[in-house]
Order: sequence, then structure tokens, then C-alpha cells
Amino acid sequence: MTSFRTPMLGIRKRIDYRCLFTFGESCFNYYGCYVTLCVYKVTIKIKITSMSLTASHRIESVQDPIIPIVGQWISENPGTVSLGQGIVWYGPPAQIEQGIAEFNQNPDNHVYKAVHGIPQLLSVIERKLELDNQIKPAGNRKVVVTAGGNLAFSNAVFAIADPGDEFILSVPFYFNHEMAISMANCKSVLVATDENYQLDLRAIEASVGPKTKAVVTVSPGNPTGVVLSTESLIAVNKLCKRMGIFHIHDEAYEYFHYGDSEQFSPASVEGSEPHTISLYSLSKSFGFASWRIGYMLIPNALFHAILKIQDTQLICAPVISQFAAVAAMRAGRKWCYQQQETIRESRSIVVSALDEITDICTYPKSMGAFYFYLKINTEISSIDVCERLIKEYGVAVIPGVTFGSSDGTYLRIAYGAMTPESAGQAIQRFVSGITAIVKD
Ligand SMILES: Cc1ncc(COP(=O)(O)O)c(C=O)c1O
Repeated sequence: MTSFRTPMLGIRKRIDYRCLFTFGESCFNYYGCYVTLCVYKVTIKIKITSMSLTASHRIESVQDPIIPIVGQWISENPGTVSLGQGIVWYGPPAQIEQGIAEFNQNPDNHVYKAVHGIPQLLSVIERKLELDNQIKPAGNRKVVVTAGGNLAFSNAVFAIADPGDEFILSVPFYFNHEMAISMANCKSVLVATDENYQLDLRAIEASVGPKTKAVVTVSPGNPTGVVLSTESLIAVNKLCKRMGIFHIHDEAYEYFHYGDSEQFSPASVEGSEPHTISLYSLSKSFGFASWRIGYMLIPNALFHAILKIQDTQLICAPVISQFAAVAAMRAGRKWCYQQQETIRESRSIVVSALDEITDICTYPKSMGAFYFYLKINTEISSIDVCERLIKEYGVAVIPGVTFGSSDGTYLRIAYGAMTPESAGQAIQRFVSGITAIVKD
């Protein structure tokens, strides 16, 4: 007679599916909150009491995305103006209509396409990488089109890391990077930046250990808008090469520069091919946030792994969006620069207003993206300040705690979605609100 030992019943606390195990003539039927044991026609039904129909500990430990939380506060306070979300005021170029028409001409476009992207888009991207980023993808690198830059980052994490591996992030970090790392059961090793949010190369090098898989950099940065110096990016890239680890570089804001500032792509450094992963997005540059198109440039050696991951998670980026992306990218960076005139104006308005309250907040006048990251002269937590700004003053910003800042109160201001008029109104509300809160 088959014997069942009670530990078998205790093997799972989480019961969210049905399983049937058979043992010779006996069976073990495990369903819902009961376990039924059938042993030679004798049925025993046991109620399971230690149930846990909850999310995994892994996901529970990931920070909650802040944008929906702030969004909820905004919806509870109608009339709030937002300096919160990192989006642009414009949508895609009109040329995408041609791309969509082309998509519609062929019924075959409604089926799955290649995991790494449609050939037309891959060739437009390769040309763009050569012209705008001085990167020659041909040879020992591959382009993979993804459903946005965030997915490109998690593809990279899954492709290179095992549970417990480490990624070096400079603080303040882009929150979805930190979240993706923890979702993969890996660890973010946090390194401070200097007072201008430039990289601390010594601290990065000192943080590399046996479990380090990659150093992550973002330029222009979110939440700071800071353009990392070319020298520091070259140094990180060379450090990664020397240490045998990857350099993941996020260029989501590559076209957003002010003054003399220019984009530099570490993947253009000679010898960077085997260890550099570069991430791009159309969300900001081409007003494509809801179309979900980004891409990654990866070493050949990772291609197979990335295809495996993307085939499982996504299959392929939405094909209609890929057709639209071909048309948008043909409009080129000049088109993006034209849209950004408005953002430049909003930026000046925001800077002038913040210049009036240097006793309340300080920040480097960063030259990229469409963010400023303010250090606020208060003991009140960044979350509480944000909540009060929305509820009492009708203006939304994002709290610094979300970006890993723990040495004071920081707030991110985003001005990309503003017209100059709305930027003026929003920043005036911010200035009045933060002054009152700090001087309270
Ligand atoms: C640095 C950075 N990378 C990636 C993304 C995500 O972009 P996507 O919409 O392409 O997923 C963002 C969005 O805010 C970002 O700030």
C-alpha cells in the first residue's frame, strides 16, 4: 500500500492551481483549499488552512510604481496641474500615416513577425545608429526591436544575470531599472553621485565584486536631466571591459539637449562591442509613448538569449507600431528638434521661477532630457511634500525617494509635457506651495 507522509501536504503553501499526482493505484488530488487523498477507494478530504493567495515575495519586495500613486492623488484633486510625468507634449510625426497605410495594405501583416523586428525598421535603425550615434552595428552586434526601452532593459537583465547577481546603479536612479533588477531576483548596488549628479568613478570601481554583472548608466538622466560627461562614460566603458562585466547604457533622451550639450554613445568607443548594451526609445523623441517601440543594440553573443526571452515575453513588438516607427524615424532627429522648441521655452520659464527660491531648493541646471532634480531645504519627507503639493496647492511632482535618494528631500520636476503657458502656471503653483510648506 502506498503511504502518504504528511510533509507531502505541506510542500506548497500557495494554492492557486490544480494538480494531480498519481502514486500506483493511489492518487493525490490537490485543488482549491482541499486536498483529497484517494487510497484504494478510501477518500480522505483534508482542509488546508495555511493558504496564501498572494503575490510572490519577490514581487512584493519591488517598490510600487510611483506614477499611478501620484495619478491617484491627482484624480482625487481635480484641477491639479502636473509637473510629474516624464512625457512630451507632442504626438508622433504626421508621416506615420504612410507607415500605417503600408501596414494595412498587406493582410500578412496581421500575423506574428520576426522576434527581433521587421527588416525595414532594423535597417532604418542601423542607419540612424551610424549617423546619429557613430555606431556601426554590422559585424559583431545586433539590433533588437522591443516594446519600449523598459522592456529592452529587462531583456538585458534576464539575458546576463542569474538570481543574486548585482548591478551597479548610480543614485538617483531611474526607478524602473531598479525595479526590473529586483524582479529578476538580482541586487542593485547603489553608488552616490557628486553634487552635480555626475558619476563617481572611484565609487563605481570599488563597488565591482564577484557578483557584479553590469554597470548601468543613463544619459541624459532621469530624474536629473544631467548629461554625463563623455570622459566618465568612456571610463565606465573601459572599466567594464577590464573587469569583464557589461556596460548597460540607456539613451532614451538622446535627442534632448540644451545649449552646447551633445549626445555621446559609449557603444561608439572602439573595442566596446563585446560588453556594451545600448538602449533606445521612441517614446519621448517621437511622441511614441503609447506605441511602445524601443530597441537595443547588443553584442552578438547575447542575441540568442535575448530572442529566447523576447519570444516568451512579447513574441514581437506590435507590428503596426513598427511600421509607424519606420516612417517616424525617417522624419529624423530634425523633426524632434522642431517639437522641442516648446520644451526649451518651458525650460526657461521653469528656470526663471526656480531662481527666485534658491533658499528653498537647489539643483544643477541640467542640460538634457526635460527634468530638474531639486534638493529641498526641509526635514519633511519627499512623499509628504508631494502629497501636500497636490492636495493643498494643486501641483504634482515626483518624490525623490522613488529614485533612491535617501540623504534628504528631493523632488523631480518634469517640464516636457508643458506648453509655455501651462509651465508658467504650474511652476508658479509649485513655487508658492513649496515656499509655504518649507517655511511652515
Ligand atoms: C531613462 C529611461 N529609460 C527608459 C524609459 C522607458 O521608455 P519606454 O516608454 O520606451 O519604455 C524611460 C521612461 O521614462 C526613461 O526615463
